[in-house]
Amino acid sequence: MLTGYRPTGRLHLGHLLGNIRSNVALQDVTECFFFVADWHALTTGYEDTASLASNVRELVADLVAAGLDPERSVIYRQSQIPAVAELFLYLSMITPLGWLERNPTHKEQLRELSTRQINTSGNLAYPVLQTADISIVDGEVVPVGEDQLPHLEIAREIVRRLAHLYGTSLLVEPVALLSAGARVLGWDGRKMSKSYDNAIYLDDDPGEVLDKVKRYVTDPEKVRLHDPGRPEICSVFAMHELFTPADDVEVVAKECRAGDRGCVACKAELAGNISLEIEPIREAKTSLMQRPEAVDEIVAAGAGVARPVAAHTLERVREGIKL
Ligand code: TRP
Ligand code: SF4
Repeated sequence: MLTGYRPTGRLHLGHLLGNIRSNVALQDVTECFFFVADWHALTTGYEDTASLASNVRELVADLVAAGLDPERSVIYRQSQIPAVAELFLYLSMITPLGWLERNPTHKEQLRELSTRQINTSGNLAYPVLQTADISIVDGEVVPVGEDQLPHLEIAREIVRRLAHLYGTSLLVEPVALLSAGARVLGWDGRKMSKSYDNAIYLDDDPGEVLDKVKRYVTDPEKVRLHDPGRPEICSVFAMHELFTPADDVEVVAKECRAGDRGCVACKAELAGNISLEIEPIREAKTSLMQRPEAVDEIVAAGAGVARPVAAHTLERVREGIKL
């Protein structure tokens, strides 16, 4: 299996529960390739690359600290595998523009980021590059979020078209594995996201976690400590369900309904449980960030494993195209 991460900033609880935990578990089941999609970061961020290198290091530190294991999995950086770019070139030749122009993610981006010049050929070809990422290592299973399903569909179409054109199956047709993780709410009740500025990051310390948890919206009708509350409409309760042991969650619900629990204490308990969960990640990340050369070594070792695999795929494709 293979999946990629764009280096766009620190990871938060939404990433952890939505995707990283299930990818950590996949390492017990199959051979995993994880990579940092730094070329993809250029598709929208080509104008300002000042923090690209540090974003890449931070992402690798986040991922490894959260449990992606360089001893068992191949962790690398896209731009260190030039074969991806060559495969991208061949796939670009055969991909009809219409497929890319119809891509809902691209259309949405053009609407949302209309102030920046992102209508470039590279950005339009984002799914072609993604196909090259997957195919270069014979990726079969691609764990992704729902937003990536259109890209995976395009990848499958490109692989099929290549086989059709050259009369033989040259690449593996990938399947999307929809990440089964939970949807995590930010303190404004919306989905946790960096762009909504409502995120608790994996390296927030217990004080920061408490400050952020204090901002969560609760049951608006529970004003005083002994007012009964409705856990089912409270986003603090929704977070308890994700971070608090099941027995304790029952107690939270019962006490809330009975008016035996105040929101201040309820939030403090939640913050404590979140910190318990992320403290080991924060510590591991901090120690990695203090040794940037260790992070560089991880991706260099990963590139050492990925490169021969990629070269092999490329040879097959070149032969198939008769180059
Ligand atoms: N597009 C993915 C995202 O934004 C990142 C990505 C790039 C990727 N190449 C990939 C994911 C290949 C899976 C497979 O999250
Ligand atoms: Fe929400 Fe807890 Fe307050 Fe009940 S006591 S409303 S669950 S924060």
